[in-house]
Amino acid sequence: MEKSPNIQLPDLSHYWVPFTANRQFKAMPRLFKAAKGNYYTSMDDKQILDGTAGLWCTPAGHGREEIATAVGKQLLTLDYAPAFQSSHPLAFEAASRLAEYLPNGLDRVFFTNSGSESADTALKIALAYHRVCGNPLRNKLIGRERGYHGVNFGGIAVGGIAGNRKAFGNSLAGIDHIRHPLDIAKNAFTKGVPEDGGIALANEFEQRILTLHDPSTIAALIVEPMQGSAGVIVPPTGYLKRLREICTKHGILLIFDEVITGFGRLGTRWGADYFDVTPDMITCAKGLTNGVVPMGAVAVKHDIYDAFMEKSPEGAIELPHGYTYSAIPIACTAAIATLDIFAAEKLEARAADLSGYFEQAAHSLRGLPMVRDIRNIGLVAGIEFEQFMDKNGVAKVGAFAFATYLKCYELGLHIRFTGDIIAISPPLTIEKHEIDRIFNTLSDAIKFVASHGEKGLESKQYLKNEQAWAKAQIYT
Ligand SMILES: Cc1ncc(COP(=O)(O)O)c(C=O)c1O
Repeated sequence: MEKSPNIQLPDLSHYWVPFTANRQFKAMPRLFKAAKGNYYTSMDDKQILDGTAGLWCTPAGHGREEIATAVGKQLLTLDYAPAFQSSHPLAFEAASRLAEYLPNGLDRVFFTNSGSESADTALKIALAYHRVCGNPLRNKLIGRERGYHGVNFGGIAVGGIAGNRKAFGNSLAGIDHIRHPLDIAKNAFTKGVPEDGGIALANEFEQRILTLHDPSTIAALIVEPMQGSAGVIVPPTGYLKRLREICTKHGILLIFDEVITGFGRLGTRWGADYFDVTPDMITCAKGLTNGVVPMGAVAVKHDIYDAFMEKSPEGAIELPHGYTYSAIPIACTAAIATLDIFAAEKLEARAADLSGYFEQAAHSLRGLPMVRDIRNIGLVAGIEFEQFMDKNGVAKVGAFAFATYLKCYELGLHIRFTGDIIAISPPLTIEKHEIDRIFNTLSDAIKFVASHGEKGLESKQYLKNEQAWAKAQIYT
């Protein structure tokens, strides 16, 4: 595909791109300059279908005028109000609206600015809750292998992705992890929720806390209902319900990190609704403002909030925690406008209606070279590849998925990859013909990369124009 070489790129030297191989990226930058509906526009005016709803964060599609107009107006009405010791009406309105959207009973809301801050906030609330209730020794936190709870110290401690932890020294003390529920040997190519193994796996949690800890020392268990970032891991039937029972039995708070699964991704408002399990806290972010203003939230059960109010000394700050930008007016406006869109367009129901079609399309990739597993739920699919071995028998982790990602981009599709896994999670406004395009393009890309053997992994053969633009840059 020919593209104009006369593209003006910004100076690429100064910006340190997060979670990105910077040298590699700056040698072939993928820059979007506009977005509307389900498409991005790249630097050379190519329409790129958004197969990932940004970073799982734009469920209502891009460029929503309702949100843009409300935010613009808000900036000229009340741009900022101090978040501590004073507030503004929209913060309360946004919390009430979110409480209406949340599962019954989770109706007290603490605002943050991201999923990472929501995870750390929830962990702090759990510790402080047990302390205020007179149980300060209940202070251990349990996460799960391959869990992702953002990048702050609490989140990486309970998170279960080694690559996100190893560079940053010792973790927090008093942390343990349960096993993740992915079992490819048994469940490869399962459509939707795997049938077997859930109860036994959840029972291991109880076994572990009984054997290794005293359950009365555990403050909380945090899990994502569906593990997104580490590769679309769908829990088997009964697993989350059993975790709930065990937590209840031992007085452990159950936190669902719904940063990805919230706001319709699974075809229901929350993962909690999909699996019919009510946790004690839900964390969210991303879709809360359709991804356009940073905002996260932690919703807690009424009685958790009440415990702080009733048991803290009169006049004391019940939770010494918060952010300068907690409930900043434009974030509240964006959240309210997003909730209005969800109510008007019933995006969760739309996702549920499309999920069967999406599932069929995703599983049509079965049988392609290198495809080891396909997993799906709602409007999420994970395609896991075999590990690519080079001619010396050395595994090239992630190289096949990266090449597939580059080829998809070249073909006008944006996807996400993590290790050897591709994740697809389009906006909930996606159309059937666009679902076809996502999986047809992905199929073409996989076939292309696979047919070139080890040469297919060489990134320099992809995005030639992006490389030419980068070369024309003067680095300082
Ligand atoms: C489950 C989960 N928790 C937390 C986060 C972190 O969110 P943020 O990047 O907004 O800090 C993410 C991000 O993908 C996530 O998927």
